[in-house]
Amino acid sequence: MFAPILRSIMIVAKNLTDFNEARSAFDGKIIGFVPTMGALHEGHASLIRKAVAECDAVVVSDFVNPTQFNNQNDFNTYPRTLDQDCAFVEQLGVDIVFAPGVGDVYPQGGDFDKKVFDLGGLDEYGEGPRRPGHFNGMAQIVTRLFDIVRPGKAYFGEKDFQQLAIIEYFTRALNYPIEIVRCPIARAEDGLALSSRNELLTPEQRAVAPHIYKCISKAVDMVGNISVAETIKRVTEAIDSEKLLRTEYVEIINSLTLQPITHWEQAEHIRLSCAVYADPVRLIDNIKLK
Ligand code: PAJ
Repeated sequence: MFAPILRSIMIVAKNLTDFNEARSAFDGKIIGFVPTMGALHEGHASLIRKAVAECDAVVVSDFVNPTQFNNQNDFNTYPRTLDQDCAFVEQLGVDIVFAPGVGDVYPQGGDFDKKVFDLGGLDEYGEGPRRPGHFNGMAQIVTRLFDIVRPGKAYFGEKDFQQLAIIEYFTRALNYPIEIVRCPIARAEDGLALSSRNELLTPEQRAVAPHIYKCISKAVDMVGNISVAETIKRVTEAIDSEKLLRTEYVEIINSLTLQPITHWEQAEHIRLSCAVYADPVRLIDNIKLK
């Protein structure tokens, strides 16, 4: 006879009081935490599966954070699918879904959070200048969630490579006793990086979106053979040759400092990152070059 696997019933906590009560059942255990903005897909599931395998209990937060949106329309149209999300994560073995109201995470109310974070200069490139305030807003919510959830490990995807580097930086700088676990990018079979924003693409845009990954993958063979500038030019032109796509930027960066490089010898670890519009949807992707 096999012993049945005992698993606690998943709790959906929609406010701080309910969350604190549910969290108290796991005092002294290693909590794995997967922060999300909901509209969950297989990319999120890959983080959750890892957390379930490595921790005693798993908390998933589901909160569309207003302070990290620099575009009101992007915030308004961001998909919100809490009931679907709860059903999705329950079968993955999650213990608590934390879906707070704005007042639970930002007790200051309408003024939200005014805290300004030291991001180690890692926000000076890539997404930083293109989305003013985004990373500071992200740091506000992630630190607030760390304080509430008190996890031992927190899981983040390399899909948001710069976000991950910034989270690692402030976790160390603020001395949080939390291990940040990096998770690889989950892609659809056709190569498109999974993203909640993919839901907003028209069928025509969805059909051409895998072109982004195809183009950035080609850069791997260009390393050391043609210049960094020429690589950026070829990748940009290749993406833009698809008429429904428009690159905002293609950058080749030092994976540790996130600073753009001009020569291949300048860094040991190199990544290419890009943002591409399939209007009005903005897609980001990145790939390891070295
Ligand atoms: P969200 O975009 O919902 O992503 C939640 C987590 O899932 C992030 O760590 C993100 O990198 C990861 N993720 C999303 N798509 C992925 C994919 N295709 N492969 C691997 N990981 C993927 O990132 C945020 O929310 C927010 O900024 C948040 C950290 C929750 C703060 O509000």
